[in-house]
Amino acid sequence: MATPDMLRYRRIPLTHGTGAIPALGFGTLIPDPVATRQAVKNALEVGFRHFDCAERYRNEEAVGNAMQDAFKAGTVRREDVFVTTKLWNSNHRPERVKQAFDASRQRLQVDYIDCYLIHTPFAFRPGDEQEPRDERGQVVYDSGVTLIETWRALERLVADRQCKSIGLSDITLEKLKEIVAAARIKPAVVQVESHPYLPEWELLDFCREHGIVLLAFAPLGHGMEPKVLEDPVITAVAKRVNKTPAQVALAWAVQRGTAFLTTSVTPHRIEENFDVSTLPDDAMQEIRDGIRTNIRFNGVVETGVPGFIPRAN
Ligand SMILES: NC(=O)c1ccc[n+]([C@@H]2O[C@H](COP(=O)([O-])OP(=O)(O)OC[C@H]3O[C@@H](n4cnc5c(N)ncnc54)[C@H](OP(=O)(O)O)[C@@H]3O)[C@@H](O)[C@H]2O)c1
Repeated sequence: MATPDMLRYRRIPLTHGTGAIPALGFGTLIPDPVATRQAVKNALEVGFRHFDCAERYRNEEAVGNAMQDAFKAGTVRREDVFVTTKLWNSNHRPERVKQAFDASRQRLQVDYIDCYLIHTPFAFRPGDEQEPRDERGQVVYDSGVTLIETWRALERLVADRQCKSIGLSDITLEKLKEIVAAARIKPAVVQVESHPYLPEWELLDFCREHGIVLLAFAPLGHGMEPKVLEDPVITAVAKRVNKTPAQVALAWAVQRGTAFLTTSVTPHRIEENFDVSTLPDDAMQEIRDGIRTNIRFNGVVETGVPGFIPRAN
């Protein structure tokens, strides 16, 4: 009998934190809370054990409810699930961090968070308004706090033991280097957009050298044009290995050493996205060498304002 392919169960031990992050992660950037709860339920059932959340997504409670249902039913244990959530831009002031963290933890209904990320390196005017804007409609940034000051507040959360690891998101390599140089606790995880059209090899090399897990969001290119899943290299590999283009893009992400976050509200796709298998080495090489398209779909890294930017055809 053939050995079952274990790729889908891969966990990456955290060098700068406690525990190990499942390489296959499910993202919860889903606007509707009812759909969120159902999608998380489906994702737990098919085997996903990493959930990526955020204060900004305004649906942590729905994610928490779905997890609680599974814990109470005894189908999944808390210690088997890795929960990531994120500090939003309007809470960068150190005195606001612990409160924001506790509020996320309470909405998620968990005693501890496995990984707490600074959502973006951009501080917005502190307050409860997520996107403060001036009279001209421009975002109001906060020049009264630096990223390292916010990072120090996250380091204190780890000392309190309710947070097992900390990290950054939507950060450039340059800014990451500054934090790594100054940090007492180094980032365990860096979450950025990454897919075959934005492989971020240089960032990945730096992360490898420093024991940081690169957590790729939009691993399927968010379904946007030009479509990663219609790329001729991806579709040719998919045909050859008898998998779908999505399964090829996701396996590629894991095999090159990243963890990923994919999202779907469609039950058969959630199942498909967990059913990944190891690609042959020559397919990995073909994807690396054969794809020349280079595109960033999400502009958050430039402004701190989230959003995938549709391209004019
Ligand atoms: N840090 C940040 O700033 C940031 C930014 C963006 C995202 N994220 C995180 O990353 C997660 C994933 O991002 P993403 O939603 O862009 O990921 P993605 O998986 O690349 O894209 C999701 C889109 O692809 C479709 N899809 C999913 N599986 C598919 C499949 N097997 N075949 C064809 N289409 C498929 C989904 O459609 P259906 O739902 O209709 O099935 C959905 O429209 C988010 O939920 C969030 O947790 C973080």
